[in-house]
Amino acid sequence: MGNEEDRLVTAIVIGCGNRGENYSNFGRDFPKRLKIVAVVEPLKHRRDRIGDWHKVPPQNRFSHWEELKGSKKLADVAIICTQDKDHMAPAVQMAGQGYHLLLEKPMAVTEKDCQKITEACQRNGVMLAVCHVLRYYPPCAKIKEILDSGEIGEVMSINHVENIGYWHFAHSFVRGNWRNEGESTFSLLAKCCHDVDLIYYWMGGKEVVNISSFGSLQHFKKEKKPLLATDRCLTCPLSKSCPYSAERIYLKEPVIKQWPNSVVCDIEDDPRVYPKVLRKTLETSPYGRCVYDCDNDVCDTQMVNFMFENGAVANLTMTAFSAEITRHTRITGSLGELVWDGSSQGIKVYSFKTNEWKSISADAVVPNNVLTRGHGGADFFLVDSFIKAVARKDPSLIKSGGEESLKTHMLVFKAEESRKQNLINHLVNKPTPAHP
Ligand SMILES: NC(=O)c1ccc[n+]([C@@H]2O[C@H](COP(=O)([O-])OP(=O)(O)OC[C@H]3O[C@@H](n4cnc5c(N)ncnc54)[C@H](O)[C@@H]3O)[C@@H](O)[C@H]2O)c1
Repeated sequence: MGNEEDRLVTAIVIGCGNRGENYSNFGRDFPKRLKIVAVVEPLKHRRDRIGDWHKVPPQNRFSHWEELKGSKKLADVAIICTQDKDHMAPAVQMAGQGYHLLLEKPMAVTEKDCQKITEACQRNGVMLAVCHVLRYYPPCAKIKEILDSGEIGEVMSINHVENIGYWHFAHSFVRGNWRNEGESTFSLLAKCCHDVDLIYYWMGGKEVVNISSFGSLQHFKKEKKPLLATDRCLTCPLSKSCPYSAERIYLKEPVIKQWPNSVVCDIEDDPRVYPKVLRKTLETSPYGRCVYDCDNDVCDTQMVNFMFENGAVANLTMTAFSAEITRHTRITGSLGELVWDGSSQGIKVYSFKTNEWKSISADAVVPNNVLTRGHGGADFFLVDSFIKAVARKDPSLIKSGGEESLKTHMLVFKAEESRKQNLINHLVNKPTPAHP
């Protein structure tokens, strides 16, 4: 992992929710490489949970990033894990104060704000790593290696599917944080900025010249509500048979404080109390609402088509309606074909020369017992690379830097523009500079 010469990197965590907790765990896993020295979070119990784990002194526990404005620099890096709409302001502020940034995706929810972040980092000479975890996910990195080696020749087409999973979609995009575009952002940006980024990454920097997209909210709306359904799942006569019932998603045995339950109810974990409090919470919480009666408006089904400068094509399907929560990919080339089922062992390559399939596994593995292991280990490799980059002053160790991430975010905005304005032949232009 880290070299002997890797110095200790200090960090401030802004947003101590699910992701902030996950990344800061690297400091518990490798205390000689990362030390959390300050926390920023309006919810006291979250602020104190991370603050206590890392022995953050009381004077370094803040409620809002604005409290840090003009203060002396407390750490080398800022880990920004606030919600999507609250990325730009802390990112620009912290870059201005000289912090290197580990910034959750999406960078921001408008093109202009994404540009402002990249420019602030460039202006202040700080490193930026956007949390495009898939670039660090061992099978995705292995696929990149295979493509770059020329094993399947020149890439001709990519078919990539993001299977969000029917109950996961209901949790996050119908009832939860990413359900409403006005409150957070559109689902292609929230969920598939990763996939657009990955397609671009796999294509080895070939520029996209044309993009188009179709999609809509097909299912989770009032007109699809069954006749007998009521507004809340716990009192609904259909709760046993409805696949999206909160009862089936959150209260199946054993009821434990694990994602997604921990998002609904994040009280301290006590097996004697947790199931009862969770049930009570669902009586009134947004997570107990009928999926056909929420204030959601984001697409549950969307496709994007890409045309690259060399004539290669790609498409991306985002669907809520899948059993699995995995990505599937098929890539064709002039000398062979590659398929991937989303798992670490699941890459298969066919050679047109030998007429044989071979299976390839991703070799990188996360060390045993580390706490930072989400997204199949990708979270670990992301933080590991970023912390190394800062310790060694070597931005080349970051696979998801500002400029490329900005480029791939722009593709997502273009795709959404195409969907909304019915532009089926949407030329992609270079991003225009941000206005001050
Ligand atoms: N990289 C990935 O694959 C991935 C996966 C899931 C989520 N995300 C992204 O990570 C981000 C965080 O998601 P999450 O699930 O951790 O959300 P969360 O709601 O659990 O955490 C966000 C936290 O920010 C806090 N906050 C609000 N205002 C603040 C302020 N002024 N200063 C400091 N903190 C403030 C909230 O109280 C909350 O605790 C989102 O942008 C999300 O889209 C990325």
